[in-house]
Amino acid sequence: MKKILDQITDEVKAAFAAAGLDAEYGRVSLSNRPDLCEYQCNGAMAAAKQYKKAPIMLADQVLEKLRGNEMFEEVEAAAPGFLNLKLDRGYLADYVEQMAQDEERLGCEKTDAPKRILIDYGGPNVAKPLHVGHLRSAIIGESIKRIGKFMGHDMIGDVHLGDWGLQMGLILTELKQRQPELVYFDENYTGEYPAEAPFTISELEEIYPTASGKSKEDAAYKEAAMQATYELQHGRKGYQALLKHILDVSVSDLKRNYENLNVSFELWKGESDAQPYIPGMVEKMKQDGYAYLSEGALVVDVKEETDTKEIPPCMILKSDGASLYNTTDLATIVWRMKDYHPDKLIYVVDKRQELYFTQVFRCARKTGLVEKDTELQFLGFGTMNGKDGRPFKTREGGVMRLETLISNVNEEMYRKIQDNRTMPEAEARETAKIVALSAVKYGDLSNQASKDYVFDIDRFTSFEGNTGPYILYTIVRIKSILRKYAESGKNAGTAHILPAHSDSEKALMLELVRLNEVMENACEETAPHKLCAYIYDLANALNHFYHETKIMTEEDETVQASYIRLLELTKHTLELCIDVLGFSAPDRM
Ligand code: ARG
Repeated sequence: MKKILDQITDEVKAAFAAAGLDAEYGRVSLSNRPDLCEYQCNGAMAAAKQYKKAPIMLADQVLEKLRGNEMFEEVEAAAPGFLNLKLDRGYLADYVEQMAQDEERLGCEKTDAPKRILIDYGGPNVAKPLHVGHLRSAIIGESIKRIGKFMGHDMIGDVHLGDWGLQMGLILTELKQRQPELVYFDENYTGEYPAEAPFTISELEEIYPTASGKSKEDAAYKEAAMQATYELQHGRKGYQALLKHILDVSVSDLKRNYENLNVSFELWKGESDAQPYIPGMVEKMKQDGYAYLSEGALVVDVKEETDTKEIPPCMILKSDGASLYNTTDLATIVWRMKDYHPDKLIYVVDKRQELYFTQVFRCARKTGLVEKDTELQFLGFGTMNGKDGRPFKTREGGVMRLETLISNVNEEMYRKIQDNRTMPEAEARETAKIVALSAVKYGDLSNQASKDYVFDIDRFTSFEGNTGPYILYTIVRIKSILRKYAESGKNAGTAHILPAHSDSEKALMLELVRLNEVMENACEETAPHKLCAYIYDLANALNHFYHETKIMTEEDETVQASYIRLLELTKHTLELCIDVLGFSAPDRM
């Protein structure tokens, strides 16, 4: 459906034209004085200069042309030259009715320029448990992917595992110390390697920190780890077989963890998948004259004339010929372009990596790894802090595992749910999980991604205020009314949504009709927080309407049926939005 703002704008533009003024001045926006009007046009002020007339005179001229227009209940010109608009209730109800009839998309049109967008998010490191640092990338990336998909883009999520580099050498070294007899360490072994991994996920999760600790104290140990890394990267068979085990064990654990977060990926590629592309890429960069030796290292200059701060060259190979994080990210772009040919690449990564991605993107563009019109977007997110304003830690000051964080929130939610009412244990546990996920995700997504925020478990799990549980509570409230209505033997069926009977009902409708615009905007600006702000307003409008209106005791059955359909639409709208935000609602709570 055409966005309501566009419909209104068209009407006001026509009035400007009819008044002999440039139609472009007729742009309409949501009112920033909702006490005075619903929509407003500020064009008369802008036009005053061109027409050398007082803005209020121009506004009056346009007002004349809008009088009697069926789209509006009220139009007025206000000093110094605003046009204040209130929508006609019949017109508004028609729009809402059309939305309700479009059960699949509620009036949201798909983009007319669909793109293939590859989104790099998650970024977990194998053999290390997911920690809270990985939470934001997962939550934000998943939501952006879902919003994009809903809008008709071809979205491909890639988890981009950290499965390359020293951490692998550390694990290999520690394993070798513990079980030197394993065939993987026998350089003369030529047979098949065992199918079963010689460790479990919990062993693996203990091995890595142990090895990492040792390498910091013991130079020889670190040397051995670097050597192992080198040999792994240069094709030592036994090590590669072990790498595969590490990956398998780790990835199935990661999948389980992401599933609990309602996060999934189309691709489970890792840094290691990029390695085969490095030699060819480097060779080409040299041949094309982009890469040159600087103090032994191979680099590509990426500074630009307009830079206001120093952008150092992008290092491609270290002086010992070893590749770096950069090299892997660049070679990853090579296969992404070759295999998927995306129009756009989005990286959802900690904003502290911004300079790094500036270098990578410039280097990719300059050396022709991407096409001229391939968009590269760095979506940097801020830090999740504790209540003390510092990066979130365990009480002991360590890094908190994601599983621990989630289970803490689950517990808290369970307690709150049982405070409110008693439901069977199993249902309460299940419900607590669903609501807890909304608390964590909404708590994160309702902030602009680039900002830091404070993880406040009390606030996030509250049923009141701008929280996930409040949104779910609103949906559950609607579900309960709909259930009661159905139990009374009635069926709203295809009853029409009638013009609003009260201001609170009209306010609810005015929120509903914003959906397509907000969704489109959230997609274009990769800004899930805009959807959060929208559903918060919508939930408030619904609750206000609910408190002001006798729904179940309404005697006029057509009016009641119209209320019910409005509630259904509100429920669908909220559900659609939370689905693209990546969480869902229970039936009761
Ligand atoms: N594994 C990295 C980390 O834990 C994040 C990877 C981000 N994505 C990328 N393409 N570099 O910090």
